[in-house]
Amino acid sequence: MRKKKKMIQKKKDYVQAHYDKIGSNYDSKVNLVFLGLDRIYRKKAINKLNLKEGDTVLELGCGTGVNFEYIMKKIGPKGKIIGVDISLSMLEVAKKRKEKKKWNNIELIQQDITKLKLNQKVDAIFTMFVMSLVKGYKDAVRIASTYLKKGGSFVMLDGKEPKGYGKMFFPIAKYVGRKFSNVDRDFKKELWIVLMKSLNNVDMTEHALGMVFIAKAIKS
Ligand SMILES: C[S@@+](CC[C@H](N)C(=O)[O-])C[C@H]1O[C@@H](n2cnc3c(N)ncnc32)[C@H](O)[C@@H]1O
Repeated sequence: MRKKKKMIQKKKDYVQAHYDKIGSNYDSKVNLVFLGLDRIYRKKAINKLNLKEGDTVLELGCGTGVNFEYIMKKIGPKGKIIGVDISLSMLEVAKKRKEKKKWNNIELIQQDITKLKLNQKVDAIFTMFVMSLVKGYKDAVRIASTYLKKGGSFVMLDGKEPKGYGKMFFPIAKYVGRKFSNVDRDFKKELWIVLMKSLNNVDMTEHALGMVFIAKAIKS
């Protein structure tokens, strides 16, 4: 048990150090590697949250805040985004983005999502390309779900091992992903299954030849 805890901590420290190192280049790397294609999936996934004006959205592993503009379009100035990330350097970029756009309704918190503590409930939860690199992802989903209001949606986007044709392209995708950020991701675990443990009505759709999934669950 102690050994397992040590391993989890080691991975967490590595991931944090990695994103602290690449924080200032993250946005340009995303643009270079995904050539804007990521925006299609960001929009698709955020649409699934069914947000309305004035909603409060929690983003787990918000990074530099690339998703903020899509969320902000839906919730407007009366809404609120709570962006949580473990990396200060990623959050610094998010802070600059927030200041540049004069978004006064964004709260940025440096926290480990596996030990999340908030002082309010939220209408929706979003997370993208985070859970596959978090060893304690089950805790992260379970704890975050306790802050979700009844009827609220939790949407998770991440990578997955494809079946069929996607299998041929998966090694290339993994290689490109590795060039983009040098951290181990576990695509074998079926991340969306964990939503079922804490929430209801889980719906999962596959994209990019099955290499990407978007899962949505509702709190009843
Ligand atoms: C690939 S980036 C994704 C950023 C953002 N979600 C996006 O779509 O561009 C992964 C982010 O997860 C954060 N992260 C990883 N483990 C975390 C943890 N245990 N707690 C909070 N944030 C974490 C990293 O610091 C990094 O900013």
